[in-house]
Amino acid sequence: MKRVSPCIVITMICSIVFTFSCVSSKKNLTSVPAEAKYRNASLPVEERVNDLMSYMTLDEKVAQMAQAVVYVASPADAKSYGLGSILVGGGDHPGSGLKAKDWLNFYNEYQKAAMQTRLGIPILFGVDAVHGNAKIEGATVFPHNIGLGATNDAALVEKIGRITAIESRAAGLHWNFAPCVAVARDERWGRTYESFSESPDIVSALGIAYVHGLENGNRAAQNSMAACVKHYFADGGAEWGSGPHGIDRGNSTLSDEDVRKIHLAPYVAALKEKPASVMISFSGIGGEEMHGNKKWIDVLKQELKFNGIIISDWAGHKELKGENLFAQSINAGMDMIMIPEEYPDFVVDVPQNVKDGIITKERIDEAVRRILRVKFEMGLFEKALADESQLNTVGCDEHMDVAREAVRKSLVLLKNENTALPLLKTEKVAIVGTKAKDMGVLCGGWTLYWGGYSEYEPLVAQLEQNSRRVKSSGLAVKGKNILEAFTATAGASVLYSDDGSAIDGAKKAIVVIGEVPYAEFFGDLKDLSVSKADVDKIKKLKAQGISVIAVIVSGRPMIISEIEADCDAIVAAWLPGSMAGPGIADVLYGDYDFSGKLSFTWPKDMAQLPINVGDGKEGLYPFGYGLRYKQ
Ligand code: GLC
Repeated sequence: MKRVSPCIVITMICSIVFTFSCVSSKKNLTSVPAEAKYRNASLPVEERVNDLMSYMTLDEKVAQMAQAVVYVASPADAKSYGLGSILVGGGDHPGSGLKAKDWLNFYNEYQKAAMQTRLGIPILFGVDAVHGNAKIEGATVFPHNIGLGATNDAALVEKIGRITAIESRAAGLHWNFAPCVAVARDERWGRTYESFSESPDIVSALGIAYVHGLENGNRAAQNSMAACVKHYFADGGAEWGSGPHGIDRGNSTLSDEDVRKIHLAPYVAALKEKPASVMISFSGIGGEEMHGNKKWIDVLKQELKFNGIIISDWAGHKELKGENLFAQSINAGMDMIMIPEEYPDFVVDVPQNVKDGIITKERIDEAVRRILRVKFEMGLFEKALADESQLNTVGCDEHMDVAREAVRKSLVLLKNENTALPLLKTEKVAIVGTKAKDMGVLCGGWTLYWGGYSEYEPLVAQLEQNSRRVKSSGLAVKGKNILEAFTATAGASVLYSDDGSAIDGAKKAIVVIGEVPYAEFFGDLKDLSVSKADVDKIKKLKAQGISVIAVIVSGRPMIISEIEADCDAIVAAWLPGSMAGPGIADVLYGDYDFSGKLSFTWPKDMAQLPINVGDGKEGLYPFGYGLRYKQ
């Protein structure tokens, strides 16, 4: 028998010992005991996190940091890649339809697949339910944040967050990419309507309220929804001309002191509610993109002690320059990456970055710890699947009543002369303009589809498909438009005209003007003037000696210099949602008084922008302005 040299024997013994020690210290990587600690709900969350992580391979940890979009990642992918999260992009929905039950089955399919992975880690399923869950057909669609800012009613906003959570969880959807706590400082920004106000104080107060409404102080409750405060930060402070489309995704040049005072304040406030997550902004500060901005993300983690998930915005890592963009974002502090398409690359590149020392194991572990913590706190390991027991809450009368109250309180009376308002139910009134009967226009962006839709008017070309999809599939937002509600209130006293013609007998006309839906950069505009078509309607009515009441349905203050003098009354209605009609009728017929106050300064003309409270400029109507019937 050939002698084997002693050194080979020693090497063989060492490698056996080393292999055994690796395996035993990492426990058995092929099977996990049913009684593994992380599956024991009676143990503290941190203990469960530690135990689960002790079973995880590097690949499994990295996969937890990946969020993929449903139009690329199937439930089978969720399982085979062990994805940590799935999101529904603005334009996505279940193949079977958009009803709550469609969403519930869709969610459960992904979750069941995820639970079949080696460690059975449930996924987080993210959705933009930013004004109610307007992704669900029949859900209660609330006024967008700009209207809620005009109410400045924290208790109401909390109720809206609560109802949004109840209706979303009824359909299984448990992670909301909301609230947006942007402090929009220049109304040329297409996301102004997602902002409560130009005032950090109002944004702070309503942001806290909304987070509490969503999470209800108990993330594990079956009707709680994980919040995602966004977009960190100073997205509302970008300057015109600094973004690829004007302002969105641009850059703020504010000093650290001012950027903290105006744009960090809402996070300082909202984080007191310990939200599950924070989403990073596409914008930059001082020329440094937020998605690579370790300085300010460290403020979030260290100074503000945020221990939830920090998630990127949609492919936000691509805002960065150079190579290893995933690694740049993760090293800046991102815990989860909204990839959302190239997850096959992510699960290869990032482990390689770790092996090459570009990302440390400690950074990966810190990110995964934050992700697992939220999943345990949400009780997903105990009950991940949704049931049909709450489907009847979606769009229920009680919720719609809250939406109607929100519309009433969001309306701002800017002008009221010659006893134009309130209306008498007996006097003949004309409703003028298709916006009065267009639920797409009355709801605005992020409704059914990203960017919303319109029943009668063209959107920007890239969003036009939404309107086609809504029309061809017979989708509808539950609620009542202005024409329906006024007719229901005053019957034969109400006439309708597209353009102000053929309204014989009417002494007053309610002209619904404003904007068609848009989202994000599609709404970046250098001119916010009322359209010529809308101006023409008002001029036509004025020429007939009709008393004109303009109702402005828009995502922001508009330049109304061409119509202001011709209107006896002007009402800012913002983007009122499902109960646009009833809420507006309640107030215009005097059953309720106006209470809304401008949460944005209303500019005289475009030359004034940006214009904000305290900057010394005098707008057409100041921040906090709003008339009442009974002063
Ligand atoms: C979008 C938005 C963000 C949204 C995310 C997921 O680009 O910036 O607000 O939550 O993508 O839809």
